[in-house]
Amino acid sequence: MTQRRFPDSFIWGSATAAYQIEGAADEGGRGPSIWDTFSHTPGRTRNGETGDVAADHYHRWREDLALMKDLGLQAYRLSISWPRVQPGGSGDLNPEGVAFYRDLLDALAEAGIDAVVTLYHWDLPQELQDAGGWVNRQTAYAFAEYARHMARELGDRVKVWTTLNEPWCSAYLGYASGVHAPGHTDPAEALTAAHHLNLAHGLAATAIREELGDQAQISITLNLHVTRPGDPERAADLEAAHRVDLIGNHIFLGPLLDGTYPTELRELTRHLTDWSFVHEGDLNLIRQRLDVLGVNYYSTNYVRQLPPGEQPSGDSGGHGAGAASPWVALDDVEFLPPEGKQTAMGWNIEPDGLYELLTALAGAYDGLPLMVTENGAAFEDIVSDDGAVHDPDRIDYIARHLDAVARAIEDGADVRGYFVWSLMDNFEWARGYSKRFGIVRIDYDTLERIPKDSSRWYAEVIRANAVDA
Ligand code: NOJ
Repeated sequence: MTQRRFPDSFIWGSATAAYQIEGAADEGGRGPSIWDTFSHTPGRTRNGETGDVAADHYHRWREDLALMKDLGLQAYRLSISWPRVQPGGSGDLNPEGVAFYRDLLDALAEAGIDAVVTLYHWDLPQELQDAGGWVNRQTAYAFAEYARHMARELGDRVKVWTTLNEPWCSAYLGYASGVHAPGHTDPAEALTAAHHLNLAHGLAATAIREELGDQAQISITLNLHVTRPGDPERAADLEAAHRVDLIGNHIFLGPLLDGTYPTELRELTRHLTDWSFVHEGDLNLIRQRLDVLGVNYYSTNYVRQLPPGEQPSGDSGGHGAGAASPWVALDDVEFLPPEGKQTAMGWNIEPDGLYELLTALAGAYDGLPLMVTENGAAFEDIVSDDGAVHDPDRIDYIARHLDAVARAIEDGADVRGYFVWSLMDNFEWARGYSKRFGIVRIDYDTLERIPKDSSRWYAEVIRANAVDA
């Protein structure tokens, strides 16, 4: 066992998202979002589960703050529900919704916990979807106005502004595979949405800096894919992994950090779109200084280039058997089923992927600060007779990933912090409440909070600023 220490300035946190924990879907003047519509549509989520009540955080946030204090959290990553603060997605704010976040942020500040606030964690106001959602360029401008409002209303209470969480999911799961809201299956729409999400980021970053000045800390959180060739000796598999990189990663990294969409990406998707959704000037608008890049990491992918005519046998990239693939323009790439131990999500466990991702980003983008804004695992938790949840698998998963983060820092990556996903069990989107990522258990019958062994373990890691792995 090696003990790994973290830099003194390292920030220890935990993360959640509004729709996954808040509940109170019809309360306090909140408007409907695409996830209300989607989850209430039969067949879209496991057992028709919805975020109507979720962990009832809207009513129990004081209790949740007490848990954060017990943990010794230094930062909390939360998201603002756009339809709670601006029910129609444009126009008037809902004062009750704004007050909810103001009170929460004030209480966090009082507890000495920094707020890392995500403006968009997938709950688009339904009215904007009715006008086309992320396929409509106008949504990017609406998002920037909403961001400006939040900067004005909450500015001094927020340490880091994260514009978007995992735009890959919004674009590809929302518009290509259809397993997330709004549930479309149109590859051209997915690519259009990806660009409009990038644009939304750039416009929002600009608006926030206009309101708060240049010292406002701006970030975006990406789920970058670490993709390996099924057979490392096979050139075609290496090439397939490279194309996954283009469709999954460089469609975001390119415009955000290099100021362009790679030519290879445009060529790869030319049969789906002519890219005329990229207007003159967009690339300049999108590339704004990033104070920190948020990295969400869970697992790796293995891919195989299919011989001509062969259909993939797997489940189209780990996002549900039988579903359309989120991987547009990659019909000839098979995502191989994971080998070895898996989490309850069916994802493989490969901490080295996180090390490689962080060091690769550090190598490619010199001086770019990084933050692990999500990492964690769902396992089949069991409540013991003594009422406790002993979750050694989760502890082991987090410890090994923290070890990877520490190694990346040692090897030169500027990683500023780590946020466990998640503070508490919550609504795991299409998978409903069956998948539990929390370090605190939610009893969905009583809404009682039960800290799992992993939460006590994590508190000790924070206290020691070190992990044994
Ligand atoms: C990424 C998402 O940001 C979050 O909402 C989700 O619950 C976790 N990953 C786990 O799948």
